[in-house]
Amino acid sequence: MTDSKPLWSGRFAQEPASDLLRLTSSIDVDMALLPYDLAATKAHARALEKAGLLGTEEVFAVADACDEILAESSAARLGPGPRDEDVHSFVERVLTDKLGETGRRIHAGRSRNDLVATDFRLWCVDAATSLKTSLGQLIDVIARLAEENVGTVMPGYTHLQRAQPVSLGFHLAAHGFALTRDAARFEAARRAADVSPLGAGALAGTTLPIDPSVAAAELGFSAGFANAMDAVSDRDFAVDLTYAAALCGVHLSRLAEEIVLWTASEFGFAHLDDAWSTGSSMMPQKRNPDVAELVRGRAAPAIGDLITLLTLLKGLPLAYDRDLQEDKAPVMATVSRTLGCLEATTNLLVSLEFDREVLARAARAGGAWATDLAEALVARGMPFREAHERVGLLVRGLETDDKAFGDLSGDELVAYDPSFSAQDVSLADPIKSIQSRSQAGGPAPDRVLEQIAALRAVADSLRGY
Ligand code: ARG
Repeated sequence: MTDSKPLWSGRFAQEPASDLLRLTSSIDVDMALLPYDLAATKAHARALEKAGLLGTEEVFAVADACDEILAESSAARLGPGPRDEDVHSFVERVLTDKLGETGRRIHAGRSRNDLVATDFRLWCVDAATSLKTSLGQLIDVIARLAEENVGTVMPGYTHLQRAQPVSLGFHLAAHGFALTRDAARFEAARRAADVSPLGAGALAGTTLPIDPSVAAAELGFSAGFANAMDAVSDRDFAVDLTYAAALCGVHLSRLAEEIVLWTASEFGFAHLDDAWSTGSSMMPQKRNPDVAELVRGRAAPAIGDLITLLTLLKGLPLAYDRDLQEDKAPVMATVSRTLGCLEATTNLLVSLEFDREVLARAARAGGAWATDLAEALVARGMPFREAHERVGLLVRGLETDDKAFGDLSGDELVAYDPSFSAQDVSLADPIKSIQSRSQAGGPAPDRVLEQIAALRAVADSLRGY
């Protein structure tokens, strides 16, 4: 085993303080970058070969050793030692253990500054891809549930007060569209990460004849860096990914909140499956929506991680500063939580059982017909403000008489106000109500089917169909 001095020990007469490594090490977090560090090392070996700085045999030896390191680490036969400061030091030490002189040549024209940015970008590209796939699964489930429920009426809400009848399909599709925008943001974050910083060196390139485009192509990046200083200091891609995840978390929290409400006995719109509910340690009757609550709650650390990252970058002088080491933990934590929340939400939705009768009863109650009635008067020529007033008076009269609009006969309705017509009592039917709101983007079943087709197209492309 090679002497595991720090990579930078040459200019120091004394050993670092024993606590220094403990305080500066990032290995607990950045071992997650191992596959990417190995890929970047193989790619850099190719670039060194093209530059005449490494023999072809040596490049193969590096590639084989990198593959071994990955296999041995995955099998837990190899791991960082107490003096490995970060994943990059670990890989270089093990390569040198395995290859001797060749291992000691690998870091030429390269710095941990461009290396860590490369590793992290590759990690973010893969993370964005996984997030898109998971989103595709969730959007697909939403589309399926929405399709089953284009005719399931329920109240639509504003201010959490019953507003106008909608269908459950229309309501679920609304959540689906928010998620399609998240998918577009993850794709934008993926593209932002898809630029190779390798070859930028510490901040200003190298005197060695290394062509950065060689490693960029080896690693499958779409482009190379335009400016070496920017390449080592740019973490916009990480902010983009974290922002996309935080907003996705916010969207999931809104859906989760509705699941909490819908499954509360006060609403009774849906029932939680045994497998996806939790009990109480004290109250035997409880069936709790903990999964939905946790999805709602986990938007909080995602927002926090976004703030952490932005605060970390604020005022940071160019180019690399060690503060940047703190970038990975928040991004990785948020990505892993978001993947978990997407999976949990998908499972939860599949397991929800909606109570169509309760939904329909709620859609009939609470004056959800009132806007349609006012619009019927408008269609017959009355100015909207007057129609609004007359329907308002009817609502008040019904309240005083303790009557429901749905129970009125045509004659009784006209007795309240002769501007109404006897057929207007049919407006109490929420199915009719949604059918007659048939403009593009509206809740009419045919329109919702169009919306579902649009959601499906996104879900299919996210899942690679
Ligand atoms: N562990 C460091 C990080 O994550 C690697 C770069 C260290 N560079 C340096 N000049 N000390 O940022």
